[in-house]
Amino acid sequence: MGGQFITFEGGEGTGKSTQLGLLSARLRTHGLDVVETREPGGPIRKLLVEGDQDWDPMAEALLHFAARADHLAATVRPALAAGQTVLCDRFADSTMAYQGYAQGLGRKTVEDIYALVVGDLKPDLTLILDLPIETGLERAIRRDIDETRYERMGPEFHEILREAFRDIAEQEPDRCVLIDANHPVDTVHEAIWVVVQDRLGLS
Ligand SMILES: Nc1ncnc2c1ncn2[C@@H]1O[C@H](COP(=O)(O)OP(=O)(O)O)[C@@H](O)[C@H]1O
Ligand SMILES: [Mg+2]
Repeated sequence: MGGQFITFEGGEGTGKSTQLGLLSARLRTHGLDVVETREPGGPIRKLLVEGDQDWDPMAEALLHFAARADHLAATVRPALAAGQTVLCDRFADSTMAYQGYAQGLGRKTVEDIYALVVGDLKPDLTLILDLPIETGLERAIRRDIDETRYERMGPEFHEILREAFRDIAEQEPDRCVLIDANHPVDTVHEAIWVVVQDRLGLS
């Protein structure tokens, strides 16, 4: 049997990386073989999260999917085939929210590229962390290194993003669970743990 594929989604500073680490540690105590990974990865990451390049939205979406094609082939598919649990910090819902909704490419275009690049694979569970944008951006500023390109995109952009993620959660309730991230770290972790236990059948 293949492993489970769990993705973390949401805006800047919602706690994705923090919660991924906590979930990973907890799953390991239950004996699962966990792989932690993130997108965008490889050399393309720098182009997308650093600097202030003004990409055409289609070019930007294709860069994300180019990185994703490589990540799926090199990391995600082999791990799932080996029965590992893959935890991924951002995946295709981020491309849908950022390029599809906030940068205006539209749902259908992103869905079409997804079909071409990813095909039938989809996450078994997607945790969408939801937080007021001001709180998220404040948290993100505290954390930051040089990966601020999306953070600098202005409040309207981030408000559209938040609504986009909520919309995605509503459209695919079997795959997605919206998590209220406006609580202390441990409270959010427990909420995530309840969902994961249920979906993975752990006790
Ligand atoms: N629930 C929380 N309450 C307060 N601060 C948090 C919470 N979750 C994360 N943080 C802090 O906010 C910052 C951003 O969290 P992070 O996990 O990097 O978010 P993301 O990966 O979604 O951008 C970090 O400094 C982290 O320690
Ligand atoms: Mg992060």
